[in-house]
Order: sequence, then structure tokens, then C-alpha cells
Amino acid sequence: MEKIVVLTGAGISAESGIATFRDANGLWEGHDMYAVASPEGWHRDRELVLEFYNQRRRQLNTVEPNAAHYYLRELEDRYKVTIITQNVDDLHERAGSSHVIHLHGELRKARSEADETLVYDWTGDIVLGQKAADGAQLRPHIVWFGEAVPLMEEAIKETITVDIMLIIGTSMQVYPAASLIDHVRPTAPIYVIDPNATKLPGYTNAHIIRKKATEGVIDLGL
Ligand code: OAD
Repeated sequence: MEKIVVLTGAGISAESGIATFRDANGLWEGHDMYAVASPEGWHRDRELVLEFYNQRRRQLNTVEPNAAHYYLRELEDRYKVTIITQNVDDLHERAGSSHVIHLHGELRKARSEADETLVYDWTGDIVLGQKAADGAQLRPHIVWFGEAVPLMEEAIKETITVDIMLIIGTSMQVYPAASLIDHVRPTAPIYVIDPNATKLPGYTNAHIIRKKATEGVIDLGL
């Protein structure tokens, strides 16, 4: 079986009703990114940070995977598929995808603020005073700006052996996630699905499909 790696971003969940970060009306328009998504913000105002992610987690209960998530699951019938997502939602899993790497963490997990290996499944709110087994405050299991991306090495390992690379719904502005494209062999085709995608100069193997995720995947013909 040929191997497909899919790098997804907020755009793949947009048609499920989850706002992206950098589009008009995106999350970073209404929120100070560093106040809610950095270690400094966390130390300044834990309640503000918890509430931001509690809202996102509550919203997850109100949305469903869309046709693009299901399409990626169906690809598993014909290809060996790994999804590397920057998204913290669980819509890939709910659509049935079996191999998902969450580069930026997961909303439905909480962890100790002192020990990043103490991770718990979490569906409700996280509130101030809720402690992990080590006695430290629980925080969202999210990779914030300025923090290391522990799964990056695994993501690179998956990407260097790819036969076909798909990139869906990401502005490719956040590193190191965006640098994954540099690990694709020059002979492997890269398909980019994003209504606002721009050309990727230097990547002669890249094909741009300027459409929404649910429409763009149909054009792939895979
Ligand atoms: P962005 O908000 O930066 O980019 C979303 C992309 O989705 C844009 O390129 C849009 O054009 C595209 N888009 C919008 N609607 C779409 C649709 N229906 N179908 C396909 N594409 C669509 O989101 P990301 O690139 O995911 O990190 O952002 C990367 C990281 O920045 C996030 O993981 C998050 C954020 O700060 C952290 O919070 C650590």
C-alpha cells in the first residue's frame, strides 16, 4: 500500500463550525494569542486561560466531523494513512481515522502543570484548584507558543517516507509544523487544499487546489 501523510490545520474543521485562528473573525482576532496560548499568559492569569479552553472544549460537544474528515478515514481502505494535525479537536478520531498525531495537543486532555507526562482524558471544564496526582494544578494539554513540540520528531519520521502528501486547511504560518513539507521527498506529489492557498515557490511537486476542504478532497481523485 502507498503511504499518505496528511497535515491538517484549522481549515479542515471550519465546515464543522469551529473557527480558524487567522481568518476574518478567527480566534486570534477576538483573543490576545499570547494571553491565552503561552506559558507567560498562563502564569499571569490562569483563570482566563482555563476559560478560553473550557469554551473550546464545550464547543466540541456541539460539532460533528464533516465530509473531509470522513474522506480521510475512507482513504485508509486504499492507503496507509497518517494524519498529522495541528488541531486540538478530536474530529479526525470521531470520523474514525486510526493514526492521528496531535502536534499541538488535545482539548479533551488535561495535564499537570509541573509534569507533562501526567496526562488525563478530560471532557468537562478544568477549574482552578483541580490537581494532578503530583499535587500540581491541571492545565490544558495544549502546546503553547514558546513550548517544545514533543511529537515533531515522530511527525518528521512519518513524513520522510511518504508517497503522497496532503496539506489541508492550514496557513502554514506556525513552526515547526509548517516545516514538515521540507521533509517530503522531491518525487512525492504534494496536494494543498485551501481556498486561500498561495503558490509554493520552490516546490515543483506541489499542486494547489483552491477550494474548501470538503470540495477539494473530491478533486484529489485518490
Ligand atoms: P489558521 O487559522 O492559521 O489557518 C487556517 C487556514 O484554513 C487558512 O489558510 C484558511 O484559508 C483555511 N481555511 C478556511 N476555511 C477553510 C475550509 N473550509 N477548508 C479548507 N481550508 C480552509 O490555522 P492553522 O494553520 O491551523 O496553534 O494554525 C496553526 C496553529 O496556529 C494552530 O494549531 C494554533 C494556532 O495558533 C496553537 O494554538 C498552538
